[in-house]
Amino acid sequence: MTVILRDKASLRAWRAALPLGKRLGFVPTMGALHEGHISLMHQAREAADVVIASIFVNPLQFGPNEDLSRYPRPIEADIAKLEAAGVDALFLPTVEDMYPTGASTLVEESMVSGPLCGAMRPGHFTGVTTVVLKLFNMVQPHVAVFGQKDAQQCAVIERMVRDFDVPVEIRRGPIVREADGLALSSRNIYLSPEDRAAAPLIHQSLRAVEAAYRGGEHDAARLAEVGKAVLAQSDRIRVQYWEVRDPESLGAITTVGARGALLAVAAHLGTTRLIDNLVIGAE
Ligand code: PAJ
Repeated sequence: MTVILRDKASLRAWRAALPLGKRLGFVPTMGALHEGHISLMHQAREAADVVIASIFVNPLQFGPNEDLSRYPRPIEADIAKLEAAGVDALFLPTVEDMYPTGASTLVEESMVSGPLCGAMRPGHFTGVTTVVLKLFNMVQPHVAVFGQKDAQQCAVIERMVRDFDVPVEIRRGPIVREADGLALSSRNIYLSPEDRAAAPLIHQSLRAVEAAYRGGEHDAARLAEVGKAVLAQSDRIRVQYWEVRDPESLGAITTVGARGALLAVAAHLGTTRLIDNLVIGAE
């Protein structure tokens, strides 16, 4: 049975009752769970004795023109999926519980969160780091698992944990994809049939660049052009960025060297924004 903890007080009581010496694994989510999320629950289970997930659609990480109000919230189906995955507890706080009136402190990472999605979504990563640090303080997990799907989010959280000495081990879970390569996302349900048919080009653009890299092209700008050319095959896809970046700092690079590179893409299909990425050249 998955225990449902609906406020901070019940979480605190549940946490205090955990036997000393048990490792606690944590997977924070915003719900609308799919196999990508569930894979992280399994990874947490392998890394810990007890697994807790959270579902909280964090208003602080949505911009004024983003999809906060229409973000899917199928809570009953989510609970059933967590039960089936053998998750021990679910923390399901309210907005009032997370952000009491008068809350006036933010957590801001100022390097890794700058480019890519950070440049396109001002304030987004401050919303993420603020809520994730709060969740870490409430849950006090030994290990927390995040998806490589949001590679920049992983990098930002790893930096915050290092900079603030948060006593938690961060693990990354691989990207779970549909058979045609589209990365699973809670937002895929918004795609029209035509946009859904075009969406696998995003993953194909990453694979094409990987192939070009293996074929000897190491120039970052030319590799990005290869990726953009694949997406240009569909006029339904509006590219927001297609970048070849240092895999850790996410800083700009001119050539892909021994450290490899993160290929990162964001694109709109209709009103839906999708992101995807692939690491190349990392031995
Ligand atoms: P959410 O978008 O619900 O994602 C929760 C976790 O699932 C994240 O770590 C994300 O990277 C991972 N995930 C999503 N799609 C995935 C896929 N196809 N394969 C593998 N993992 C995938 O990310 C957030 O929520 C929020 O920003 C949060 C961290 C909860 C803070 O509010």
